[in-house]
Amino acid sequence: MSRLDTRAVHAGREDLAGLGAHVPPLDLSTTYPVPDLAAGGDAYQALACGGRPPAEGGLVYQRLWNPTVARFEQALAQLEGCAEAVAFSSGMAALSACLLAAAAEGRRHVVALRPLYGGSDHLLDSGLLGTEVTWAAPGTLAAALRPDTGLVLVETPGNPTLDLVDLAAVAERCGGVPLLVDNTFATPVLQRPARHGATLVLHSATKAIGGHGDVLAGAVACTPEWAARLRRVRAVTGAVLHPLAGYLLHRGLQTLPLRVRAASASAARLADWLAARPEVAAVHYPGRSGSPLLGRQLLGGGSTLAFEAAGGFAHAAAVAERCGLITHAVSLGGADTLIQHPASLTHRPVAAAHKPGPALLRLSVGLEDPDDLIADLEQALALRPESTLPGTDHRPEPTLPTADRRPERTAPGARH
Ligand SMILES: Cc1ncc(COP(=O)(O)O)c(C=O)c1O
Repeated sequence: MSRLDTRAVHAGREDLAGLGAHVPPLDLSTTYPVPDLAAGGDAYQALACGGRPPAEGGLVYQRLWNPTVARFEQALAQLEGCAEAVAFSSGMAALSACLLAAAAEGRRHVVALRPLYGGSDHLLDSGLLGTEVTWAAPGTLAAALRPDTGLVLVETPGNPTLDLVDLAAVAERCGGVPLLVDNTFATPVLQRPARHGATLVLHSATKAIGGHGDVLAGAVACTPEWAARLRRVRAVTGAVLHPLAGYLLHRGLQTLPLRVRAASASAARLADWLAARPEVAAVHYPGRSGSPLLGRQLLGGGSTLAFEAAGGFAHAAAVAERCGLITHAVSLGGADTLIQHPASLTHRPVAAAHKPGPALLRLSVGLEDPDDLIADLEQALALRPESTLPGTDHRPEPTLPTADRRPERTAPGARH
């Protein structure tokens, strides 16, 4: 098999020359002519149950199959080193489909390691889909497993503190329960979880895979058996990816390795610069962690970092609001640099005891000249007397009602 950069450019395009085309066709059809009732009915049945389109019978309906989306799925699967991939309308739709597919087999219990993206934490903690979560740490994971555990869920690097988890060690403790790894932060350029024992590799493709802030999407790379289960859930629930989004994601994959490496180089530089600033209390960046997983599991520091403002919550809020070139916005993995305060935004729904610290800011580094980013951060970081004098911090720290939470179930020794 060719190397990753070559695969990124050519995967899912192997048949184009034979079609006399240079770029993939964009098929926007919502419905397809049925050749005859028997073949059409068989195709419908196969697709609605998660199968691939049969040779006869057509594609029937866009909610069941779309060739443009299928090309993107094929390409992503190749990059992740998995047999197949299934795309969804968002990362949260992808995670929901994994939970529903496990629940459909009678396995409604999930063991999860924090930190996770706040939306994932919220989905699990609320039990909205009828699932039940036990929060564990790598060391307590095995004890948290039950006969009805359907998934073990891990995010590494974790959102927002960039914590790293040893996937091989976790996979060993899963006792045959499928391991779902959210690989959004690393992308297949820096980490291929299937090599380390993951059964399901999840992406918010909204982030680096799309790469330009204009596509909302999710995807799961996995085995053919899991792909069929996930396609069935997708066909039934309707959380499909629009073909134009599939087209843009497939195009985005071609430049993914270049974008990820360039943004990671800038992020490493910014992390070092921030670490030397008196206005910064701490920097969280995998490239500076000294973790033995660097090089073995994670092949680079990545494009996202987090740092703690020395002046606490008011200082952090002021830094985010004073940035100019850097946009004050959630999301990550795009061409432009974004800054946000996780406790107020992306991780707002997380239970108070597990929320990111009030001084923490997350920075998604883009493709601008890093000197310009440093200049923007330098002016934004400046400690101004009104925001740092004791007793002048009038901004309340964010809180969120937790009425939709189930009582916490935490494995002994789980991280807080
Ligand atoms: C790590 C991670 N996973 C999943 C998601 C959810 O993806 P989406 O916003 O595409 O639904 C996000 C969103 O920020 C994320 O950061």
